[in-house]
Amino acid sequence: MKGVVLAGGLATRLQPLTYVTNKHLLPIYDEPMIFYPLRTLIKAGIKNVMVIVSGPHSGQFVQILKNGKELGLDHLEYGYQENPVGGIADGLKVAEDFVDGDTLTLILGDNTTDADISREAASFKRGAVMFLKKVPDPQRFGVPIFSKAKKIIGVVEKPVKPPSPYASTGLYIFDSRCFAVAKKLKPSKRGQLEITDVQNFYIKEGTMQWHELKGYWHDVGTFDSLLAANLYWARKRGIKI
Ligand code: G1P
Repeated sequence: MKGVVLAGGLATRLQPLTYVTNKHLLPIYDEPMIFYPLRTLIKAGIKNVMVIVSGPHSGQFVQILKNGKELGLDHLEYGYQENPVGGIADGLKVAEDFVDGDTLTLILGDNTTDADISREAASFKRGAVMFLKKVPDPQRFGVPIFSKAKKIIGVVEKPVKPPSPYASTGLYIFDSRCFAVAKKLKPSKRGQLEITDVQNFYIKEGTMQWHELKGYWHDVGTFDSLLAANLYWARKRGIKI
C-alpha cells in the first residue's frame, strides 16, 4: 500500500500566518504539522509516500522533509498540484503514476490524529474505507448519511442540515480505481473536485466500509483548531499548559 499526503491549498483563513509559509508547515507544538499525517502513515506500516504540494511555498517542503529518511520513510516523492484550490480529488489525481495500480491511504496534511489505522490498512483489499468522528459542527465537513441498518448510503459535502453528527475525517483508503473516478468529476458549487464525490462512487457500488476513528482528531482550518491541536499535542507530550 502507498501513502499520499495532500498538502496544497492557500489557507487564506489562516492569513497572515500563511503569507510566508504553507499551512501544513505551521507548528503543532514542536513539529511542523505535516509530520503528524506522515507519522500516522508510518505507524500503519506505510513508508512509501507521495506528498502533494502546491502554491507559493511549495519548495519549503523539501527543506523540511528532505528525503523523508529522518522521519522513518523508506521512500518519499513529491507531487505538484497545478491549481492550489482545485480540491482534494484534483490533488489526488497527481498521485496516479506513483500509486501505479496499488492500493493507497490518503491523508490530508492537516490531519493530526493520534489514531492507529494499521489494522484497517493491513486488511484492505478492494473498494474504500472512510473514517468518521462525531463532531459538534458537522456542517463544516463531509457528512455521512446512514440507513437504519447503520450502512452509509451517501456522503454530502458541508450540508446546511447535517444528516448525521459525524464528520468524514481527512483520512481515506482507496483502491486504484479512485483515479478513474476523480478524472471524471465535475467541479462542485465551490469550484472544487470533491473527495466526497469519489467516496459516493464506492458507496453506490456497495464497497465502502467505515470505521469510527479512535483517538484525537480535528482538522486545522481555523485559528481555534490550530490552537486546539497545539494544546492537545503539547499536553500529550507531558507539558502542563
Ligand atoms: C475536506 C473534505 C471534507 C472532509 C474534511 C476533513 O474539507 O472536503 O469532506 O470532511 O476535508 O478535514 P475542506 O478541508 O476542503 O473544507
